[in-house]
Amino acid sequence: MVFTATQNHAPHDLPAAISALKQERKAVILAHYYQDEAVQDIADFIGDSLELSRKAAATDAEVIVFCGVHFMAETAKILSPAKTVLLPDLEAGCSLADACPAEAFAAFRAEHPDHIAVSYINCSAAVKALSDLICTSSNAVDLVKQLPADRPILFAPDQNLGRWVQRQSGRQLTLWPGSCIVHETFSEQALLQLKLEHPEAEVLAHPECQQHLLDLADFIGSTSALLRRAEASSAASFIVLTEPGILHQMRLKVPGKSFYEVPGADGCSCNACPYMRLNTLEKVWQCLDLMQPEIVMDEALRLKALAPIEKMLAMSR
Ligand code: 13P
Ligand code: SF4
Repeated sequence: MVFTATQNHAPHDLPAAISALKQERKAVILAHYYQDEAVQDIADFIGDSLELSRKAAATDAEVIVFCGVHFMAETAKILSPAKTVLLPDLEAGCSLADACPAEAFAAFRAEHPDHIAVSYINCSAAVKALSDLICTSSNAVDLVKQLPADRPILFAPDQNLGRWVQRQSGRQLTLWPGSCIVHETFSEQALLQLKLEHPEAEVLAHPECQQHLLDLADFIGSTSALLRRAEASSAASFIVLTEPGILHQMRLKVPGKSFYEVPGADGCSCNACPYMRLNTLEKVWQCLDLMQPEIVMDEALRLKALAPIEKMLAMSR
């Protein structure tokens, strides 16, 4: 059965309806690991920010449904301007991108005219356009190490990631004071309690976490790196210090092992990214049905933002 754009009500079997509409629209569905399990399950490709950017650049689909947050869909549009890029919920932002307004970043750059500006991909297109180089959590250390040793470096907008890159690369970075509301919420007390209950478990952490938590981790890396580590490690159980959406793929890929998420302070469920989780199966169906919300970009801004992203892709191993 083919579902058409004239339909008003969400069909009962959403995965089947999405699959049919996806073929009709010649669309591909890309999803980040922090999406709801049901959204991950209908995706054609699931990955971390770097892998999703590469997929967006390489796909021959006519439409990209980006199940992630706004800066990710925007990056897909920057890399694939001829394609229609849909974001199921346009409100799916990111606290890091919000923490770095372009005008303030331009002033920060102007105060440090001799610095190379490296920006984490979690920022707006306007901030990318003001940057020399973009990085993701999976390539930040490697890229910073490749920069000329005699040039000072600005790093924005995540100060936690920046401090970790600083420690790993041995380079001094001037940091923008942004942070992720999700990765700043993890309770050290709850982590220590989990370590007591599961002393054999390996602690896996995303570098957006604060340093006092990273100091308790056995392995630090991007979401994809954490997933690979869970597969490759000889440990049978893991305490995971990042958004718990990743546990779905960990359990699917390594079914014999145990995974424990770390709650937020006061046991709240604020360890789930409130932006990522705005995308739902119903909104995925709806955006394919209506062909909106669509990411649209000014061409001059796109070209400025493209240069530091292309530099990143060229320098990434
Ligand atoms: P990754 O680089 O692991 O995809 O992380 C992106 C992100 O937003 C983490 O909060
Ligand atoms: Fe942004 Fe944090 Fe959500 Fe990642 S988890 S998208 S950094 S708010």
